[in-house]
Amino acid sequence: MRSLEDFRSGKPSSYPDQSVCAEYACAELGLTFQDIDGGTGLAFGVASPTKTIHFGAGRCSWYPQNSATASTLASDKYFTNIILERAGAPTLGGEYFFLRDRHRAHRPAGHEREDALEHFRKLGASAFVKPLLGSRGDFAQAIHGEASFRSYLDEVAQSYDSILIQRIVSGTEYRAFLLDDEIVYTARKYPPSILGDGVRSIGDLLTAHNAALRSRGLSPVAVTAGRDTSLDFVLPKGERWDIPGRMNLSAGGTMVLEAPPSEAAFTLARKATRALGLRVAAVDMFTDIGGDANAMRIIEVNSNPSIRLLAQSGRSDLILKIWHHTFSAMGLVGV
Ligand SMILES: Nc1ncnc2c1ncn2[C@@H]1O[C@H](COP(=O)(O)OP(=O)(O)O)[C@@H](O)[C@H]1O
Ligand SMILES: [Mg+2]
Repeated sequence: MRSLEDFRSGKPSSYPDQSVCAEYACAELGLTFQDIDGGTGLAFGVASPTKTIHFGAGRCSWYPQNSATASTLASDKYFTNIILERAGAPTLGGEYFFLRDRHRAHRPAGHEREDALEHFRKLGASAFVKPLLGSRGDFAQAIHGEASFRSYLDEVAQSYDSILIQRIVSGTEYRAFLLDDEIVYTARKYPPSILGDGVRSIGDLLTAHNAALRSRGLSPVAVTAGRDTSLDFVLPKGERWDIPGRMNLSAGGTMVLEAPPSEAAFTLARKATRALGLRVAAVDMFTDIGGDANAMRIIEVNSNPSIRLLAQSGRSDLILKIWHHTFSAMGLVGV
């Protein structure tokens, strides 16, 4: 049998991870993988002797067993929060605002750009702000002060039409990946960091970090001196300096397969997945909020989660399990 790495080797770096995983799963499960875009991996079919299902990269879902309604609800961080709160699953809450007048007639009063500023002030001019329909940590950041908030709005408006403003929360972050009611894996998330080389300053290292983020289409981190940080400080060789804020893998964060400290996190993840009506979900949550061992809140629920961590962790067994769920839900295997 060919390993997952065998399928990855020789492919261009733009080739989607999920397409490699799908091709691997097809080989393991006796299905035919059909590239239909000249080897880019961006669009492919999966065929059994009786039917073919198509998949595509980008905005397409890798999980057709999730209904379009459930996936779309999960992509909207405000809709998700009100549905979860109603089901008794605590969230980070927040208020949504639109950055353009377009479609104004379709929303109630109080959600325009000027209202956003007023709400930000109400939170003491410090808040965590993110695009309402964002992902990968793009533009998800803590903002302090009105001037920073205004320039954030100008920047984010170039790529998104709406935002969610929340209180800044600190806790330990976990992800639980579910297939129906089964927890397939859990992982702990750690913040991105820069690594000292004994030559470059924190400011220079952050600038290089930002260039890498931009090349992947992600918003940069603010390069400003903090209370305890001097940007001119030369980081000793081998020393790590954590970048506070978003912990997304896409934004340079680290994920490690690890169980959360209590069973309560599993219960919460199941409750959230059920409330949204998803069959596949990656539920992100903060535990130990503000140092309180029992305080837990859902950050968001991902309906089209990446499974790159599993490839990095050598868990092709779990990749196979996830794709098997998809193929069997679509009637390609086990019929
Ligand atoms: N209110 C908040 N306070 C502090 N950190 C947050 C808050 N909301 C999100 N984060 C951090 O930012 C990351 C990205 O936020 P999230 O809502 O998951 O958006 P995205 O869809 O871009 O991943 C989270 O995984 C978490 O590390
Ligand atoms: Mg997220």
